[in-house]
Amino acid sequence: MVRETRLTPDRLIYPLFVVPGAGVRKEIGSLPGCFHLSVDEAAREAREVESLGIAGVILFGLPEAKDPKGTQGYAEDGVVPQAVRAIRAECKELLVVTDVCLCEYTSHGHCGLIAGDEVQNDPTLELLARMAVVHAQAGAQVVAPSDMMDGRVGAIRRGLDQAGFPSLPILSYAAKYASAFYGPFREAADSAPQFGDRRGYQMDPPNVREAMREVRLDVEEGADMIMVKPALPYLDVIRAVRESFDLPVAAYNVSGEYAMVKAAAQRGWVDEQRIVKETLTSIARAGADVILTYHAKDFVRWGG
Ligand code: PBG
Repeated sequence: MVRETRLTPDRLIYPLFVVPGAGVRKEIGSLPGCFHLSVDEAAREAREVESLGIAGVILFGLPEAKDPKGTQGYAEDGVVPQAVRAIRAECKELLVVTDVCLCEYTSHGHCGLIAGDEVQNDPTLELLARMAVVHAQAGAQVVAPSDMMDGRVGAIRRGLDQAGFPSLPILSYAAKYASAFYGPFREAADSAPQFGDRRGYQMDPPNVREAMREVRLDVEEGADMIMVKPALPYLDVIRAVRESFDLPVAAYNVSGEYAMVKAAAQRGWVDEQRIVKETLTSIARAGADVILTYHAKDFVRWGG
């Protein structure tokens, strides 16, 4: 009765990894319990997610082929637009969010175009906007840019407006840290940078004032929701963002956070159900309205 924080399924978003082909459902080594899914299987998975009362899914794509410009990322017949169409056709309640970033589609694994060994911020913006429009045309209901290029929220907003999607919301990965906790995702999305790292465009872990500046810029450019990522090592950032901004705040309980729990649980070192409930509740208590988490289905199945 007097419990202060309650976390319900309608605040959770479950990530899906879409691959080419049909009938593919292959467990991801670094994310036990999560799968690489072909479009048909992704639609099936989405139905199950919807039946659990989970708010939405966020889609990541692994293309057939990668190239330096990440062409498959903004191809109209790419795996993500196909999956969006299939899921929207089957699921009427589920919110379909797409991740907008080049790193899953580029041969070098960086989130932007490369010249020499430098990421080219401004030339990347047009491609990100194109990707967001392609997702919107397929039926995505929210686009979520995760690339951390400067100015991308504004570029995506203008692109969507011009393409006839003026009211499509942008969930911006606004405070995204250069984190070791993305390790398992990079195996899942085959997106590890082939040289260098992402510290030139992602944030330095010790900084919180910088996070506020990054969030403010995204809000000024037209973000409708703002995300902090990762979640657990940055609960203070979630709280600070919550207190300074009125927009809905999302937090991404990332792959490394999930994989650590899974690994320890498999060894019998922790009680997985209790750890997951405590973890997700702490993220909500810190101030997140929405939580993106690989634990979403388990959390709901275990009674929330
Ligand atoms: C793409 C992207 C990443 C994640 C979400 N979108 C990886 C990265 O920046 O390297 C990480 C999600 C996770 O670890 O669960 N830029």
